[in-house]
Amino acid sequence: MATLPSKVFSILAIFAVLLTFNACETESDFFENTTFTDYYNTLLQAPPNLPATPYNYANINLPAYYNVPPIQDQNNTPNNNQITDAGATLGRVLFYDKNMSFNNTIACASCHKQEDGFSDTDIFSTGFLGGLTGRNSMGLANASFYQNGRFFWDERAETLEEQVLMPIQDHVEMGMDLDTLVLKLNIPYYDPLFEDAFGDTTITTERISLALSQFIRSMVSYNAKFDEGMQAIGQAPFETTPFPNFTESENLGKQLYFSNQTRCASCHGAVSFAAPGPRNNGLDEVSVDNGVGAITGVPQSMGAFKVNSLRNIELTPPYMHDGRFATLEEVVEHYNSGVQNHPNLSPILRNPPNSPNPGQPRRLNLTQEEKTALVDFLKTLTDDVFTQDVKYSNPFEE
Ligand code: HEC
Ligand code: HEC
Repeated sequence: MATLPSKVFSILAIFAVLLTFNACETESDFFENTTFTDYYNTLLQAPPNLPATPYNYANINLPAYYNVPPIQDQNNTPNNNQITDAGATLGRVLFYDKNMSFNNTIACASCHKQEDGFSDTDIFSTGFLGGLTGRNSMGLANASFYQNGRFFWDERAETLEEQVLMPIQDHVEMGMDLDTLVLKLNIPYYDPLFEDAFGDTTITTERISLALSQFIRSMVSYNAKFDEGMQAIGQAPFETTPFPNFTESENLGKQLYFSNQTRCASCHGAVSFAAPGPRNNGLDEVSVDNGVGAITGVPQSMGAFKVNSLRNIELTPPYMHDGRFATLEEVVEHYNSGVQNHPNLSPILRNPPNSPNPGQPRRLNLTQEEKTALVDFLKTLTDDVFTQDVKYSNPFEE
């Protein structure tokens, strides 16, 4: 049960919200989409249910193939924000707390659901007033393994620490201003969480950012069927060695994925399955959304987008920044026959110089069996241990 001062504070917060909305054009949307029950439920929200000893986030025993220099070099964890168990625990509570949004209806987890690989399955996600986001939600597994360390499809956030504060303030997503948030989070269950994480109970925007980032960076996936195969073959080259736990089709898909024919791995390389930076994969001949280019203004990055990890990709449909492909079959067909001749199309997706039609978008000429195999392989990146791990789950649920 919330204590009396926090109830008083919350009731005052409601009046503040209502007063603000009197002057707001979106007032009617607001009342359509938010019921008093929403408020009431949040006011009576029980404190989070946390273990006496925090879960282990800081010392994850990653498999050996994660602990090699090329993979560790991709890790974007800054020196001043190493993961601690207490920091990630605070981050987890913030991530699931609907008090983080203006009208207490939306948490980060509303659009980043654990069972959906921390994405959601809508083309565009619904924000605190019922409005839609401009792009498709992104899965968060292995966010720490992205070398240039930038976030969002258009990489407009320079760091994760910067990124995590942006949805909070976004007018579609959570609609909160940070000064108000700091006051609003003055809820008794946060005192011990801030104290354990940062030494005292003071709430600051910076601490919110650090803790959320720690929680997100702790989300590493290493228990998929693919990982079982990696463990099973030991030191043998994984690109070409069939995995004993794979079906024939999954092994064919793996071989194709790492082949020069498809070159999928040149952009989505193992074991994190992400690229070091943004690319153009030929979705359109003329971009509607210029992605990274719209942020940097650099002509060569027009139509380029972040290549985030394909881990748990089966769980995060629809696909691409605009959610244009409903299924993985459609994605594979894009690379097989649909790549468009955008001026910034990556050379990896063009015919090599000494081939017929040099420089034209590459066609893979895959058989139906091969297309199915590629999809089957992508599904071996689904990690049920990750999607069911209680340390990433909603602490406000019983
Ligand atoms: C209303 C839905 C919604 C809410 C709420 C939301 N997000 Fe997102 N999130 C998105 C969408 C959509 C994108 C992609 C937006 C883009 O690239 O322009 C995204 C992207 C991200 C990314 C970038 C991932 C990457 O690899 O670059 C991170 C990290 C993230 N969100 C974390 C959070 C956190 C933390 C919160 C809470 C403070 C949050 N999100 C709240 C919808 C949401
Ligand atoms: C030149 C680099 C490149 C190559 C090669 C490449 N991709 Fe991609 N891939 C990208 C980029 C960039 C995106 C994101 C594009 C966007 O949303 O605008 C992407 C997105 C995807 C997505 C959707 C991700 C999501 O979260 O929605 C899947 C699935 C995918 N690629 C699979 C593959 C497969 C399978 C292959 C091989 C047949 C492949 N890719 C080859 C660059 C590449």
